[in-house]
Amino acid sequence: MKQKVKIPVKAFAVIGVLLTLVGIMAFALHSDEKKNSAAVSKLPVVKKDSIASVKAFKQVYTVLMSARCMNCHPSGDVPLQGEDSHLHTMLPKRGVDGKGVYAMKCSNCHQATNTPGLHTPPGNPNWHLPPADMKMIFQGRTPRQLAKQLIDPKQNGHKDLKKLIEHADDGLVLAGWNPGEGRKLPPIGHATFKKAWITWLTTGAYAPNGK
Ligand code: HEC
Ligand code: HEC
Repeated sequence: MKQKVKIPVKAFAVIGVLLTLVGIMAFALHSDEKKNSAAVSKLPVVKKDSIASVKAFKQVYTVLMSARCMNCHPSGDVPLQGEDSHLHTMLPKRGVDGKGVYAMKCSNCHQATNTPGLHTPPGNPNWHLPPADMKMIFQGRTPRQLAKQLIDPKQNGHKDLKKLIEHADDGLVLAGWNPGEGRKLPPIGHATFKKAWITWLTTGAYAPNGK
């Protein structure tokens, strides 16, 4: 008889513990879900449209390949200069962090703001090349190659869609439209570029056909 009483008590205890566990799990899952949905709601809405996307990218590409952008996105380890994107005089090198090596640190010559006068260094507090392990090369890339590279987190500095969109207002991107005396502006204005960049990304970031 004793046992008959004991068993239900144990069973109740076990059920009680189980119910508590389920409750904790449900709570954890629920708050996780909340976190996720908050993150998702902040992500830009993507509405796929390959035609609009490719059209927008063609505009974006004209800017990326302009001297103001390409001069800092070279295929080698030396930055480029001038409208013809020749190798930077005195050959400063990228270095591991993109900020130059030894006595040839970019910030030795490139100040926080543009230096007045012709053929003086353009300035920005953050003036440097992409780092050695993530070179983000634009020079020589076809539209198709570059479109694919830009959205690949392994090649774009681990940027997701939101970070890519935000990059349109990055200080070094904006520097392209404040290039210092005697330098040409990119072929379209910053507002037009930003609009095309966002359109390209939010319509599916399609790469143009071809090589
Ligand atoms: C002073 C050098 C410099 C100039 C000028 C420059 N960039 Fe960059 N760019 C960088 C560096 C450094 C990074 C890496 C920083 C990062 O990932 O946040 C970068 C990263 C990028 C990226 C992200 C890479 C990717 O694959 O998505 C884009 C896009 C970009 N730049 C576009 C431009 C455009 C457009 C211009 C011209 C209007 C420009 N850059 C001018 C140095 C420069
Ligand atoms: C010894 C000084 C010096 C150092 C060091 C230096 N630069 Fe320059 N840089 C200049 C000068 C001067 C100019 C302007 C040349 C001209 O307009 O004829 C220039 C121009 C540039 C341009 C061309 C900008 C444009 O819009 O066309 C880029 C890009 C550039 N430098 C990147 C770098 C990077 C990246 C580093 C570091 C790895 C660096 N520079 C190190 C002096 C320097």
